[in-house]
Amino acid sequence: MQNLAFVIVTLLAALAISRCNAAATVRMQLTHADAGRGLAARELMQRMALRSKARAARRLSSSASAPVSPGTYDNGVPTTEYLVHLAIGTPPQPVQLTLDTGSDLIWTQCQPCPACFDQALPYFDPSTSSTLSLTSCDSTLCQGLPVASCGSPKFWPNQTCVYTYSYGDKSVTTGFLEVDKFTFVGAGASVPGVAFGCGLFNNGVFKSNETGIAGFGRGPLSLPSQLKVGNFSHCFTAVNGLKPSTVLLDLPADLYKSGRGAVQSTPLIQNPANPTFYYLSLKGITVGSTRLPVPESEFALKNGTGGTIIDSGTAMTSLPTRVYRLVRDAFAAQVKLPVVSGNTTDPYFCLSAPLRAKPYVPKLVLHFEGATMDLPRENYVFEVEDAGSSILCLAIIEGGEVTTIGNFQQQNMHVLYDLQNSKLSFVPAQCDKL
Ligand SMILES: *[C@@H]1O[C@H](CO)[C@@H](O)[C@H](O)[C@H]1NC(C)=O
Ligand SMILES: *[C@@H]1O[C@H](CO)[C@@H](O)[C@H](O)[C@H]1NC(C)=O
Ligand SMILES: *[C@@H]1O[C@H](CO)[C@@H](O)[C@H](O)[C@H]1NC(C)=O
Ligand SMILES: *[C@@H]1O[C@H](CO)[C@@H](O)[C@H](O)[C@H]1NC(C)=O
Ligand SMILES: *[C@@H]1O[C@H](CO)[C@@H](O)[C@H](O)[C@H]1NC(C)=O
Repeated sequence: MQNLAFVIVTLLAALAISRCNAAATVRMQLTHADAGRGLAARELMQRMALRSKARAARRLSSSASAPVSPGTYDNGVPTTEYLVHLAIGTPPQPVQLTLDTGSDLIWTQCQPCPACFDQALPYFDPSTSSTLSLTSCDSTLCQGLPVASCGSPKFWPNQTCVYTYSYGDKSVTTGFLEVDKFTFVGAGASVPGVAFGCGLFNNGVFKSNETGIAGFGRGPLSLPSQLKVGNFSHCFTAVNGLKPSTVLLDLPADLYKSGRGAVQSTPLIQNPANPTFYYLSLKGITVGSTRLPVPESEFALKNGTGGTIIDSGTAMTSLPTRVYRLVRDAFAAQVKLPVVSGNTTDPYFCLSAPLRAKPYVPKLVLHFEGATMDLPRENYVFEVEDAGSSILCLAIIEGGEVTTIGNFQQQNMHVLYDLQNSKLSFVPAQCDKL
């Protein structure tokens, strides 16, 4: 769902994993694909904002009953950040899937592909895989899907599981739910019996190099759930750098503790109205010396809506309008530089600075239940040179009712999703050295 900025995941080394032995670590390396492309900082940031906005839109209308029709974003709005490279079937066929903690289903475009978007790799061909099987529509897997039906013998194999999976940004995929072997490329490790969507009709914000999506959400069909891992983590290097990043499944405790500071932990909260997302308990925000006058309820779930989530698939943190304005105004009051007007830096709030002056910026601290996220400068401002001067922009956007912690704010941080203990931990880390 993205066009330019995404990360290519290559599995460098992995131990054999099986569905009953969940204790071995799988390591995947990520490289930010924007890195080598010489994009201007401004273009990079604008693309990230567009992606974040598309994601926000997707969440707001993500209830299962929302009507979904195929849509397009003609200005090339990408919504994805990271691609995970895997192979499916026997012999293995490569796929590149968007790493998406905001959804559960794993799917890839599938032959004969009557309605598919362009992709760089050949479409997955189920007819050539000797280990592939269809699932029946009365299977637990099929019934775990929000929308599924039984294939009628006229158009589909009799009694097979046909799914439709939609996203709030109007993207949608329809096809068969199948089961096959997944191979983690480069490591030789493979896992049999992983359920995934063989997408025949796919439409929406798919303008990138992806061939589908790998759901990393909390539901039973997601990759971490199907692999039965107790935890997974990611550690993103600077988005504008060249260094590889890492995704780990079932990582050892000692590896995690090797960060550069104290590990902070906060509960992962369940929202029955949206069992996919990773909700957090955010209590407040401090800008420099000012704890913003925002009641805790502003960040909390209200009868299944609102709340705060962490999403590695979203680039920029977005805040509800009222909170956003308080952050922006406290930032401007403390930096004391002229505001840049006009829409050249839209949607960011920017200040005009002397060329390469690296002006003072106040601290930005997120206060979670039991944990404090003290963001380093590079995790919440960016600077762009502009006709002999510099502009300094706040890398946070005004969003919908859900407060979303995006991946720009998580650079150089090792973030652990402890599924067993419903806990999110983070620690500053040198992500290229894990
Ligand atoms: C389809 O499957 C159902 C249930 O197994 C069976 O009753 C029906 O006869 C099948 N139809 C065809 C055309 O095979
Ligand atoms: C798209 O994927 C292909 C196949 O993996 C790769 O060769 C190519 O470099 C990718 N393009 C971009 C822009 O990442
Ligand atoms: C991750 O889970 C495995 C077991 O599933 C456990 O052995 C390991 O200690 C956990 N790692 C962390 C960092 O909690
Ligand atoms: C909470 O949400 C449910 C379902 O959306 C709705 O039926 C109920 O009226 C809501 N309750 C309140 C207090 O808003
Ligand atoms: C804003 O951008 C649009 C299209 O990019 C342009 O036509 C318009 O003149 C710009 N407005 C300002 C105030 O810069």
